[in-house]
Amino acid sequence: MKKEELRKRVLATQRHIYSVAENEKVADQFINWYGYQNAKTVMLTQSFNTEIGTSRIINHALENGKTVYLPTCDIFTKELIPTQVRAYPDDMVVNHYGILIPKATCPVCEHIEDIDLVLVPGMAFTEQGGRLGYGGGFYDRFLKKYGGHMISASLTREALIYEELPTDHFDQKVDWIITENRVFTI
Ligand SMILES: Nc1ncnc2c1ncn2[C@@H]1O[C@H](COP(=O)(O)OP(=O)(O)OP(=O)(O)O)[C@@H](O)[C@H]1O
Ligand SMILES: [Mg+2]
Repeated sequence: MKKEELRKRVLATQRHIYSVAENEKVADQFINWYGYQNAKTVMLTQSFNTEIGTSRIINHALENGKTVYLPTCDIFTKELIPTQVRAYPDDMVVNHYGILIPKATCPVCEHIEDIDLVLVPGMAFTEQGGRLGYGGGFYDRFLKKYGGHMISASLTREALIYEELPTDHFDQKVDWIITENRVFTI
């Protein structure tokens, strides 16, 4: 199946299995994971709709003294720009697509290699770290360039781990997957 067709089906599944309690278990697993606890500088994501909620993770990271970046996008180079958030959600603004992003006044990360852990969004995964993203190629580009300097991890539900996913040569794998039941490395 083509990625585009699969994204529609996976999104329907994500909505179908949506459960605040189960999604919160995934966030708890992440917060309790040593990979996160040991990370001083983290690049997190801002969740939307029926994704695993990340607001509590962002607040936890700030309250625990971590340096927190959230992505903004350079629409010309199609690169992700880690942007520092020090107050949440005060440092955020709603963008054109209705998603919260860091305000334009937030400082941009000068040394991306200093990021210890990057949270990588995705719609579906495989046990081997394969990932179906939202179709922009932003994280594939980012991980290709910087993935060697940092640990990558994704949050998902067991029901969104597939036997197989369509993959292209440019697709990058994630190092860790966190679900409501387990935290595992590839
Ligand atoms: N390293 C790269 N350099 C240039 N273009 C790339 C690179 N990686 C991916 N792309 C482009 O990104 C586009 C989208 O890729 P894909 O469908 O895999 O996105 P995705 O993995 O769902 O998105 P994301 O990585 O943002 O979650 C592809 O058309 C591909 O050409
Ligand atoms: Mg991809």
